[in-house]
Amino acid sequence: MTPAAATATTNSGPAVAFDNVYLGFDEGDILRGVSFSVPARETLVLLGETGSGKTLTLKLAAGLLKPTRGNVSVLGHQVSSMSEKELLSLRERIGFVFQEGALFDSMTVGENVAYRLREEHVKETEIEPRVQEALQFVELEHTADQLPSELSGGMRRRVSIARALINRPDIVLYDSPTAGLDPITSQTIISLIMRLRDVYGVTALLATQRLQDGFALANFCFDKEAKHVVRVSPNRRPKDGQTADATRFMVYKDGRIYFEGDPQELSSTKDPYLRRFLV
Ligand SMILES: Nc1ncnc2c1ncn2[C@@H]1O[C@H](COP(=O)(O)OP(=O)(O)OP(=O)(O)O)[C@@H](O)[C@H]1O
Ligand SMILES: [Mg+2]
Repeated sequence: MTPAAATATTNSGPAVAFDNVYLGFDEGDILRGVSFSVPARETLVLLGETGSGKTLTLKLAAGLLKPTRGNVSVLGHQVSSMSEKELLSLRERIGFVFQEGALFDSMTVGENVAYRLREEHVKETEIEPRVQEALQFVELEHTADQLPSELSGGMRRRVSIARALINRPDIVLYDSPTAGLDPITSQTIISLIMRLRDVYGVTALLATQRLQDGFALANFCFDKEAKHVVRVSPNRRPKDGQTADATRFMVYKDGRIYFEGDPQELSSTKDPYLRRFLV
């Protein structure tokens, strides 16, 4: 697979930037003046109670929604002012792992993973090897002909990661990728996210209610030479072959960013509201 972030890293601006973003529905504003940016190769972990607007934020970053006010820019493009056609080509550079996986039940695993390539009219001869490659990445190449209902919850989640990376995206948006999974399966999913970050250099925006996912991403990295996950020592820079690109946290409360900072700041916070996420 071609290193995904080649284009993102040549772009000197942030991969994703929100500038005073508002998003509302009839009942009122859900996001109320949200500004943040995600530099290329960073992982931003987005925390917040249910209904706080995490999924909406990811949809805005994918150009699936437009803000009521403010600007969203992705890979240097202003999403708010793009036509549907321009958005389609931007979305080819973005992978979306939807909450609950959201696979098509009536399609095989292979067809699910190939879906976007078929939508984009990629040649059939090219599709097959790319589906195999994506399924190999999540170690599910043997499941291509099965239906999602024949797989476990964790396997389905891995298929949705394969589907998100089929376009070799610069940015991957993960919506609660470990929700509803047991701790061991969650670890497998987080290791995959780590591998995508450290092998292909993807930029990630990850919504979760599980703080430990964020700490795992911050404290471990995938060693490309040893081909396994290793702890990042706080006292030394990762050696060649290891990358531990920054992991930052952001917490939403009442439509606004309540906290933004690194893992150490969050884990040592005395703020009672934030401490609720730590227990
Ligand atoms: N299309 C819509 N029309 C009206 N309200 C909506 C729409 N989409 C989302 N909302 C509301 O916006 C709020 C934020 O939703 P969102 O799905 O982003 O929350 P979330 O932080 O992802 O929550 P969870 O942790 O449960 O996934 C919710 O109150 C939801 O009901
Ligand atoms: Mg959500």
